[in-house]
Amino acid sequence: MSVKSYAECTVRAGFAVIRLSNPPVNALSPALIEELLRAVVDSEKNKDIKGCVLMGASDKFSGGADIAAFSEVQKPGAKNLRDLLEAIENSTKTFIAAIDGIALGGGLELGLACDYRCSTQNTMVGLPEIKLGLLPGAGGTQRLPRLVGVELALATICGGEPIAAQKAVEMGIIDEIIEGDLLEGALSFASRSIEKSPKRKVSTMSVKPNADAIEKARRAAPAEKSGGLAHHRAIDCIEASTTKDFAAGMAFEGEKFMELLESDQAKGRIHIFFAERNVSRIPNLSPTAKPVPVKKAAVIGAGTMGGGIAINFLNAEIPVILIDTTDELVERGRKHIEKVFAGSVEKGKLSEAACVKKLQSLSTATAYDGLKDVDMVVEAVFEDLKIKKSVFEKLSEICSPTTILATNTSTLDIDEIASVAKNPERVIGMHFFSPANVMKLLEIVRGKATSDETIATAMQIGKAMKKIGVLVGNCDGFVGNRMIAGYLREAELLLEEGALPEQIDKVMSAFGFAMGPFAVGDLAGNDIGYRIRKEREARGPLPHRLSELGNIIVEKGRHGQKTGAGWYKYESGNRKPQPDKEVEEVILAESKRLGITRREISAEEIVKRVVYPLINEGAKILEEGIAIRSSDIDVIWIYGYGFPAFRGGPMHYADSIGLSTVYKDLLQLEKEHGDFWKPAPLLEKLARENKKFADFKGA
Ligand code: 3HC
Repeated sequence: MSVKSYAECTVRAGFAVIRLSNPPVNALSPALIEELLRAVVDSEKNKDIKGCVLMGASDKFSGGADIAAFSEVQKPGAKNLRDLLEAIENSTKTFIAAIDGIALGGGLELGLACDYRCSTQNTMVGLPEIKLGLLPGAGGTQRLPRLVGVELALATICGGEPIAAQKAVEMGIIDEIIEGDLLEGALSFASRSIEKSPKRKVSTMSVKPNADAIEKARRAAPAEKSGGLAHHRAIDCIEASTTKDFAAGMAFEGEKFMELLESDQAKGRIHIFFAERNVSRIPNLSPTAKPVPVKKAAVIGAGTMGGGIAINFLNAEIPVILIDTTDELVERGRKHIEKVFAGSVEKGKLSEAACVKKLQSLSTATAYDGLKDVDMVVEAVFEDLKIKKSVFEKLSEICSPTTILATNTSTLDIDEIASVAKNPERVIGMHFFSPANVMKLLEIVRGKATSDETIATAMQIGKAMKKIGVLVGNCDGFVGNRMIAGYLREAELLLEEGALPEQIDKVMSAFGFAMGPFAVGDLAGNDIGYRIRKEREARGPLPHRLSELGNIIVEKGRHGQKTGAGWYKYESGNRKPQPDKEVEEVILAESKRLGITRREISAEEIVKRVVYPLINEGAKILEEGIAIRSSDIDVIWIYGYGFPAFRGGPMHYADSIGLSTVYKDLLQLEKEHGDFWKPAPLLEKLARENKKFADFKGA
């Protein structure tokens, strides 16, 4: 057998050992599939071998079908994963998958087409296609129910979560865990298996119908139009495994897979898969700029935000000093951190020993003396420029000139804060989202003096904290909060014109947001937006009128869930928003005061009025170079603001509608509602050139 570049073959103890070699994750690309297929055909002809062991050339079996190459697989005549799996099942040789690291999606489907599966202890297997808006399209929906039953197959496919090897053994996906050398163990396992039965095709196994489990899964899935298309098609396929024979079930699965591949939901999710991985590609960053090691850190401000940031450092195994002005405040901060870790222990997410170790790495102080030898400080004090500047002045005096000084401001000017520092090149924004220990997004804000080394360090620390760090430029509100201003403005103006909070929230939930703007306001505290608005108004007149409704609500003491009332009312101990007559009266009175005749507002208008401002502002942000690429804006909105992932973020959503349509709609809105709606120059240019935001590579 010849040695190939993608599928390396050798013969050991009467078995062909076929190694998948397509780094970094052995994605099943057309080239790899073709070579594997050839190796299967070759092995069939080779009388000297009894079977084949399939394994990864490195420490990973396979991350699944090559997501970037789906279009190639669709080309007529191209051999695809299904052809390979059919050849394996129909071969007279025994096939053993020896799995190390991961077998995901098509990778696990490859394993399921083998007669037997063994793995190392630290392996994870799973069918995560649902997260890409797809379903397992190489027999996963037909073979898995035959192997583990309908209920477990539904949970595995609709949940999309990876399963640890031991659990996979209990489920019946993996037959044996190998201790020690995987190949040696797999060869021994293969010999024993052949003796029992040389072939064990999953496709010939029987599967019991389970109508209750199917119904339950349908009820639990998101609505088709709200991101659940793949769930519903996957459930249909699993059901088909119980009503059709294997060949008919495969044909049905193939049809549904192709339908999903063409869907906007899959396109949106696949866009985000790559967008998320692109954020760390920073153009023009000096190749010599390396992250400085952060062995010790400090957080200034022991409130909920500061505590959350300290937890992030501890989770990244970096000792941290939590600082505030009084013993009482730091003690409260420590208690909050202890409570969070205790909760993780209770849920079984953290061992008692790991919890103790983390807390040993936490110290508290009310003075800055201990900051002389820290490598990074994150300031998370009250959102007030004067206070922040005085903190940076002090930090600059005490810390080493090499310490990275980060501010967690969500709106303030980084350059203004850096202006008081002795080493402004060491100053950077690290904007965490609340709760900081939970939310995955981190906006990393570069000021005009911020050095490449400082940027590289902040990006590295973000990764160590398991955050998605997106580098953005310095402007009022950076990317996320700058964009949200127009979204909230329009939501409130719609109230004046005829809508009610529950109507808007319902429409936006159906659009795919986990919560509508008013429910979010109540959760976060309407007083926060109120303070930001007042602070902004104090700086000068606003370019566009804002509704007074947000202010009226707060001035009535309706700060949100924490005061039992906001845009909704809340029964004590219950966080479920209840529409409130009192709020309706306030809204109606405001319409009357403004002389507005209230009108019926359609769901379509609501979506346009709140989402289009995001797109238009996003275009300005892109043109100004505040965001590196449009997909970075999408990542920020999905991970920081709950924009529906299946729509791929606001910029991808605009690209999917077509920029010329968005442009025309904006002109119409400008005519009806004034110059707030004037299309951004970049949007106009791309629309005229029939291009997408994704085509824009910088001004
Ligand atoms: N296809 C193409 N590229 C892939 C890929 C895949 N299935 N999986 C990962 N990659 C690429 C990533 O884009 C990234 O590329 P980059 O370095 O150029 O940015 C590189 O591999 C490394 O990926 P990560 O940075 O994510 O590395 P991690 O080690 O953190 O994670 C992983 C590895 C767990 C495999 C993760 O990448 C992952 O979850 N991948 C997707 C798995 C998946 O969804 N598989 C199903 C694919 S669809 C399918 O199989 C259809 C079938 O049913 C027909």
